[in-house]
Amino acid sequence: MSVHPSRTTLRTHLCGELRSEHIGQSVSLCGWIAKRREHGDKLAFVDLRDHSGIVQCVIDDGVDLRSEYVARITGTVRARPSGTVNANLSTGEIEIGECTVEILRSADPPPFPIDARADDVDENVRLQYRYLDIRRERMQRNIRVRAKVNSAVRAAMERQGFVEVETPMLVPSTPEGAREFLVPSRKEPGSFYALPQSPQLFKQLLMVAGIDRYYQIARCLRDEDLRADRQYEFMQLDAEMSFVTQDDVLAAISEAVLSAAEAVTGERPPSIERITWREAMDRYGIDKPDLRFGMELVELTSIFASTEFKAFAGAASIKGIRAPGRAEEFGRNKLDALTDRAKKMGAKGLVWLKVAADGSLDSPVAKFLSTNEQSALVAAVGAEPGDLVLVVADEWMTTCEVLGQLRNDLGRPPVHQGPYRYVWVVEFPLFVGVDKETGRPKPGHHPFCRPHPDDLDKFETDPLSVRAMAYDLVLNGWELGSGSIRIHEPEMQRKVFTALGISDEEANRKFGFFLKPFTFGAPPHGGFAFGLDRLVAILAGEENIREVIAFPKTQSGQDPMTNAPTRAEAKQLDELGIRTLPPKV
Ligand code: AMO
Ligand code: AMP
Repeated sequence: MSVHPSRTTLRTHLCGELRSEHIGQSVSLCGWIAKRREHGDKLAFVDLRDHSGIVQCVIDDGVDLRSEYVARITGTVRARPSGTVNANLSTGEIEIGECTVEILRSADPPPFPIDARADDVDENVRLQYRYLDIRRERMQRNIRVRAKVNSAVRAAMERQGFVEVETPMLVPSTPEGAREFLVPSRKEPGSFYALPQSPQLFKQLLMVAGIDRYYQIARCLRDEDLRADRQYEFMQLDAEMSFVTQDDVLAAISEAVLSAAEAVTGERPPSIERITWREAMDRYGIDKPDLRFGMELVELTSIFASTEFKAFAGAASIKGIRAPGRAEEFGRNKLDALTDRAKKMGAKGLVWLKVAADGSLDSPVAKFLSTNEQSALVAAVGAEPGDLVLVVADEWMTTCEVLGQLRNDLGRPPVHQGPYRYVWVVEFPLFVGVDKETGRPKPGHHPFCRPHPDDLDKFETDPLSVRAMAYDLVLNGWELGSGSIRIHEPEMQRKVFTALGISDEEANRKFGFFLKPFTFGAPPHGGFAFGLDRLVAILAGEENIREVIAFPKTQSGQDPMTNAPTRAEAKQLDELGIRTLPPKV
């Protein structure tokens, strides 16, 4: 016998599915009492709620039914009297009459209303009573969007021949870059497991093992500062494939992401465009560009090649952005704040210019710029009267990053606001910056990314210009995921470790278990992982991933419902050979 998706022994329908077409039918419904209004004539209206929605039931006013009581109501669907139809409710044309009420369970009054009003309740209180918060329509929707995304992603991976493999949660430390959660070993006091930051090492070993295409909806743990897009625990769609090029990986992951989006929105997004990391930096000043709005960075260096203006003279890179129609809004205080922000990000200063009605430039530095420079600047950024123009001169990277931030500050809509703009950013640098202590370059992603074949000769001469076969997927200015084609040859891996200042001895000690397998014939391979929490949040129209996680931690890493983290018993610590220090002050 197949199981009906909603019918049970106790109920015939869900509250939210009843419509005019059900008029005349006798139904049994189960749920919680959302609202009660006395009607007179010995009658009362109650709204009965389940996960599908709300329906109005007309009951005998003698029945003691209060907010959040659990009830089974049996009655007949009938049309609401004319003038009482509620157009805001999907069941607003009908009500349930001639009701028999069975109270399945009474309830204490809830600490907040179980409806949209709870959006304004302190989030700690919502999380303390998360099981009540989740009764609400918004949270029911978010959790179901999440399930849809998981299911669509899973189906897309399986369609493409990926095999689900589970990797361990108790692992050695891995070089993914974030701080790790450690788990003490009882059998070996003083030794620790780490919780996985990602299945990275294991999925690559699965390629050596001939699995060919691996995927997992994987829980990952990182002890990072929490933000709107970061939790200690989060879920990745994690994948790895053998005998592939970058195009193969991007195609497989695009299929998963676009199928998930289609499952939620009903519409398949167009194929995802690509830009290189350098172009992203040049045009948007950031490696996770938000393509939903313009205000692109404009190259101005050549315009000021022989300028008399000291701040611009001889600068390696000069760029500007135009904020259309924003001149008036930015008075002195706001401009000073923008300048401070630019300086905090490492700029030496910020030039602002306002375009007056007659096309002339209003700016404290206008007098230092020649007429030609002024008109070339206006033409280059396409400035019109009423516009605000911001210019920075510095090293290329600083110019890009500062203006990229200001562009986001001035123009970026909240992440969940449509339209959805996906973009692949490819050719990330292999190394980013130099470690102040060691003087060595730092890995851009993780040390197993494959260097771009055209840049191998620049390892010694100009390591920071070496590109990696590494790519990110970006949606509305959020990094959804990252991946790379990996190094499968021990010699090449050694070359990267050397550049990073990791000796053979250190490499063997830290990653020996990972390096040895590659001597037994590793196939060329590559992979990717994207954050499911982030994708779900955006598709559900939420700005914070906490809203799409059933039981998240607060910004300070606590769970107000269970009070985790809690102190360990002395006996437990004894067994583990651990003694705690008094808290640092
Ligand atoms: P990466 O470290 O870039 O790559 O992580 C991939 C994606 O995981 C999500 N993510 C997070 N989501 C919520 N909270 C967090 N604290 C958090 N940290 C990361 C992001 C991110 O883009 N092993 C590599 C992938 C690979 O190379 O195959 C990895 O984990 O959406
Ligand atoms: P100064 O010559 O330092 O007094 O700067 C004159 C103006 O140019 C001030 O408005 C500074 O904020 C700005 N400025 C200085 N250095 C830079 C720079 N590298 N890029 C952009 N603006 C600058």
